[in-house]
Amino acid sequence: MKAVILVGGEGTRLRPLTCNRPKAMVPVLNTPFLEHVIHHLARHQVREIVLAMGHLAQPIEGYLGDGSRFGVRLSYVVEEAPLGTAGAIKNAEKYLDDTFLALNGDIFADLDITAMASFHRQCRAKVTIALTPVDDPTQYGLVETDERGRILRFVEKPSPEEITTNRVNAGTYVIEPDVLAQIPPGTNVSIERETFPRLLASGEPVYAYPSSGYWMDTGTPEKYLQLHRDLLSGRSGYYPLAGEVVTGEGCHIHPSAQIRGPVVIGSNCTIDRDVRIIGPVVIGNGCTVLEGALVGDSVIWLSLIHI
Ligand code: GTP
Repeated sequence: MKAVILVGGEGTRLRPLTCNRPKAMVPVLNTPFLEHVIHHLARHQVREIVLAMGHLAQPIEGYLGDGSRFGVRLSYVVEEAPLGTAGAIKNAEKYLDDTFLALNGDIFADLDITAMASFHRQCRAKVTIALTPVDDPTQYGLVETDERGRILRFVEKPSPEEITTNRVNAGTYVIEPDVLAQIPPGTNVSIERETFPRLLASGEPVYAYPSSGYWMDTGTPEKYLQLHRDLLSGRSGYYPLAGEVVTGEGCHIHPSAQIRGPVVIGSNCTIDRDVRIIGPVVIGNGCTVLEGALVGDSVIWLSLIHI
């Protein structure tokens, strides 16, 4: 199965981290976010991936290239003006001739894509939407289903009295290619607010695949930090070295420095005399922590470093 990843958003809520780099290239554990997503897809045998880009496209293509380093084949489509989540998928139509996966490019999830795709086929669905439980559904799109998972209703950003479920749209979809015929080309269209409700209204089989695995959208600085806390503490199961102190190549760590995990220190860092680093902490490649500093519950990186 092919996948299209949406990476054309401006990431305004994640500023200043996204002032001069695309949200997809913001580092997670010192590796660009999108690289983690691509590895996850490759583990589920997704080998052909289209990146739907707009804002700040060049740094993404420059870093990922043809994808061979990651065991996948990458193609790129670039929008002149933002086309929204459905318009961006439509823009990648020439690559999408069979059932395909579409993902928001800012979601970190342990989703079982293989199981989701087989659920989609069993249900003979037009679209299957992954669902995840969240504590506060008012920020998201609620999805109500019947007992077999067929979607009955969407409620976008519900008010507290509209909350009937804590399962929300997880930003990952399996889609039949004929759905693309319903999206006008070159037009800004939202898949969650326009395309999916329209399919539902016309009686098409739209299903939900509930996931209970780890899920985090990295849309805001608070969530970005929380993602690191979760990975470093082992809450997601994604990071095998949770709890440990991991140091990259070429670091100079003064013997008087105290480092308590979980901590990840990137390559070529300098940690001066009497520094204390109390995890969860991630220090980016090439950083220097000066004498006597105390660092805790933080992710630090150089914003101008070459990625
Ligand atoms: P904010 O400005 O902070 O809301 O972030 P955002 O622009 O990334 O928007 P949002 O979080 O709603 O986007 C969800 C996902 O869809 C992200 O991976 C975006 O990169 C992507 N996305 C949003 N709008 C577009 C678009 O017009 N074109 C493309 N290609 N991707 C988009």
